[in-house]
Amino acid sequence: MKVLVTGGTGYIGSHTCVELLNEGYEVVIIDNLVNSQKSVVDKIETIANKKVKFYEDDCCDEEALRKIFKENSDIEAVLHFAGLKAVGESVQMPVKYYENNLGSTLSLIKVMNEFNCKKIVFSSSATVYGDPEELPITENAKVGGTTNPYGTSKYFIERILSDICVADKDFHVVLLRYFNPIGAHASGLIGENPNGIPNNLMPYIIKVAVGELPILNVFGDDYDTPDGTGVRDYIHVVDLAKGHIKALAKGMTKPGVSIYNLGTGQGYSVLDLIKTFERVNNIKVKYQIVERRPGDIASCYADASKAYEELGWKAEKDIEDMCKDAYNFVIKNK
Ligand code: WQD
Repeated sequence: MKVLVTGGTGYIGSHTCVELLNEGYEVVIIDNLVNSQKSVVDKIETIANKKVKFYEDDCCDEEALRKIFKENSDIEAVLHFAGLKAVGESVQMPVKYYENNLGSTLSLIKVMNEFNCKKIVFSSSATVYGDPEELPITENAKVGGTTNPYGTSKYFIERILSDICVADKDFHVVLLRYFNPIGAHASGLIGENPNGIPNNLMPYIIKVAVGELPILNVFGDDYDTPDGTGVRDYIHVVDLAKGHIKALAKGMTKPGVSIYNLGTGQGYSVLDLIKTFERVNNIKVKYQIVERRPGDIASCYADASKAYEELGWKAEKDIEDMCKDAYNFVIKNK
């Protein structure tokens, strides 16, 4: 089966391409490389020992999408990762985020329709839940309480895809709500190493550990959590990637929208992550407690039982694997 992966050279997209190839799928990638490098294509092929077809194009470009579908008329499904994803940047540039994230999705759906391709797995996010009313979070929890244009674009795209399923009974949509993806493929060939000052915790910990940044700021220790620092459901990116394989194989059995949390169900605090990272990598991470980051919530972790019951998927790697693999990638690519 041939699938189109948008954003396939990105952090989660590249790990998913590896797992797709391992499962015997034929993979076509479209990526405009705005937040990744073409060299990732070679690394995906090296890890999986299989070839992919790569198109350096933008998902907002309908003609480029048509060309891909014309040249690959046997594409049966799309995994849609492409999108801008920096929370802070989205607050500064809402138009850019809505135009890109919504526009690329609408162009993609339009061209998929023209080629009668009606199966899509969408890279959504736990951020659509906003500040959860109860924990752990199930797929029935209230959505839409997003606090930034990045999260709101994810919420809007979920609504767009749901509306499309109402209009066209042949459409199959799987919404995967990621919790906090961290870690990297054990080979150290692919992973996450954002340029500049990272927004997210793990990349920041790593830059302090390797001496690129002087100190980690822990955003508040006065939350209503065991040690006062923020609690999140960190999930290994390889487990996340494998969730997409299950979604393709078992999530598409019935038309309409299916929604799954991809998390471990286990919450860890900021201090938990720092201490685990230091222990498994035998390295110190200098940090200081500062004031809370605006928009942060205290705790967020998944009830991941639906993905297990319906897809037969659950996360297998633990927080130590995540810390080890994340550091291994950066050390191997210094
Ligand atoms: C985690 C915890 C911070 C940085 C975001 C997006 C979400 C998803 C994952 C894509 C929080 C604390 C962080 C730092 C810190 N992305 N922290 N110092 O905010 O849970 O989620 O990334 O889907 O959509 O919103 O992740 O890694 O930024 O923060 O203390 O320098 O670490 O307060 O408690 P977050 P994060």
